[in-house]
Amino acid sequence: MDIVHTPALLEETVQYLGPRSGAELMIDATLGEGGHSFAFLSRFPGLRVIGIDADAGILAIARERLQVFGDRVRFYSLWSHDFFANPPHDAGRPDTILIDLGVSVYHYEKSGRGFSFRKDEDLDMRIDPSQGESAADLIGRLGEKELADLLYHNAGERYSRRIAGAIVEARRRGAIRRAAVLAGIVARAVPSGSAFHPATKTFQALRIAVNGELERLPSLLEDALKNLKAGGRMGIISFHSAEDRIVKRFFRDKSGASGNRDGVSGGSRDSTSRRDTPICRNRDHKAVRLLTRKAISPGEEERRANPPSRSARLRVVEKMYDEECAS
Ligand SMILES: C[S@@+](CC[C@H](N)C(=O)[O-])C[C@H]1O[C@@H](n2cnc3c(N)ncnc32)[C@H](O)[C@@H]1O
Repeated sequence: MDIVHTPALLEETVQYLGPRSGAELMIDATLGEGGHSFAFLSRFPGLRVIGIDADAGILAIARERLQVFGDRVRFYSLWSHDFFANPPHDAGRPDTILIDLGVSVYHYEKSGRGFSFRKDEDLDMRIDPSQGESAADLIGRLGEKELADLLYHNAGERYSRRIAGAIVEARRRGAIRRAAVLAGIVARAVPSGSAFHPATKTFQALRIAVNGELERLPSLLEDALKNLKAGGRMGIISFHSAEDRIVKRFFRDKSGASGNRDGVSGGSRDSTSRRDTPICRNRDHKAVRLLTRKAISPGEEERRANPPSRSARLRVVEKMYDEECAS
């Protein structure tokens, strides 16, 4: 078992989501190679974890890595919004939920699915390769304007029109089915000179589209919050601004914090301290309290030691009450 991903913002995640009582249940809704879960399970012997990942390949790695924890861990090979929309009856409601969005270093380095512009691999990019349309099929199907819009909206690519034009031009000569071929087309279409590879944003935008990452996020957040116990905490780590905007707005709406500079909702503090019984509140009360006023970013040291973490943003909320029992 070869672990290649270093968990982002690990200490901050432990600080906010570490158990407050001994026997808690955490759902790691984007398990990956299990880096966060491994640290939580090692440090908190009473903790149980449910680990979910839509990629069966990476889930197998996590399963092997976490087997030392025996029946303290259960695994689900699923999209996490599907899990939360219809949780197994015996799963139990979690005290904490961690959602570390996006893909793992494993996907770029080891999956062989064309996530990286540096590799000569099939241009697939599906997290779950058993369903949906590959990146190669997507760029073969979309019209030039749709492609340009996708690059601009998903990744803020400033040369979106030029790149879309170059892709459409190139595919007249034959389907673009390899990651390295696409990277070359993009590199020739835009001015060089940036510190990043010119295809960085194109690849990011396509991966987001192929996996429906922005479309899935609102229902994932909504259903995860419903699942969480009253008094429980939910932390989201996002890696690009479109994603972070959705998380930020969702938490703001749920906390009623817009215009409230300290970010704390109207609910009373003591309402979160009784953890065992559902806490019922009138609908006027806010569903969550923001535990992070601003998103937490990695410090200088982490960015140096783990460059893929550099764009990570962690936001954490505490659930104030169960909406199901509000009247
Ligand atoms: C950033 S990685 C997680 C890394 C993990 N925290 C660790 O420390 O090893 C995100 C993982 O979540 C998975 N994933 C992304 N979105 C998902 C979703 N909506 N449902 C289930 N799995 C998802 C990806 O396949 C990937 O393995």
